[in-house]
Amino acid sequence: MKVGFVQNHPEFGNVQANLDRIEEMLVGKAADLFVLPELFSTGYRFKNMDEAHHYAEIVPGGVTTSFLTHLAKRINTHFIAGLVEIDDDRVYNSSVIVGPEGFIGRYRKIHLFDSEKTCFQTGTEAPPVFDLNEAKVGVMICFDWRFPETARSLALKGAEIIAHPSNLVLPHCPQAMITRCLENRVYAITADRVGDERRVPGEPLHFIGQSQVVDPDGNILVRASETEEEVHIVEIDLEKARDKYLNPKNHIINDRRLNLYQ
Ligand code: ACM
Repeated sequence: MKVGFVQNHPEFGNVQANLDRIEEMLVGKAADLFVLPELFSTGYRFKNMDEAHHYAEIVPGGVTTSFLTHLAKRINTHFIAGLVEIDDDRVYNSSVIVGPEGFIGRYRKIHLFDSEKTCFQTGTEAPPVFDLNEAKVGVMICFDWRFPETARSLALKGAEIIAHPSNLVLPHCPQAMITRCLENRVYAITADRVGDERRVPGEPLHFIGQSQVVDPDGNILVRASETEEEVHIVEIDLEKARDKYLNPKNHIINDRRLNLYQ
């Protein structure tokens, strides 16, 4: 199976230009699954919930999901990508899952980071796992990495790959995801963005790039730069994520001592 990510540098609020850029970056690229960053088509730092509301899209049917659906069909791939979603006047930091067959599903971020708490409603449903062809793919968004229960719950539901749209501002995530992969023997695809946003006086944001694919043994198969727009694709072997034995005597899931963790 071939999986990849797009690391972009969105211009805040210029959705059409940001979508056009993704299309341009993917010319000639082929993979079964591409992960795109959190809020990849709008940029990250909304000033408040009213502004997030202004940019929010219905899912499916909004411009970003429609763009991804058409492109997925045209280049025969799946996308897992972040956007601002509106549903019944509620605004969420969501990811959509689409494929050549159309819209597949969504996930609404459950661990909101810092000012996101003033811009979005918190998701109330468990992070999902989808069957994409032969792969079971779980979805979490950015700061969800800081709560190991997120990746563990996806692994317990059978995820072999964790798709992780992100807009990273803290330095620790790329290294921490190695641990998430070791803990669960899964692949993780973190798609981050680069650049800066200065939308709120006194609150500059710098995004750290370093999108990556990590394997179930904690190897970094590819890691992007801290500053450039990049697309990377790697071949992965799902059998590695299906085998939860570290050695003939240790099974990473069955060896847990659940009654001693209370
Ligand atoms: C983050 O969750 N975007 C830091």
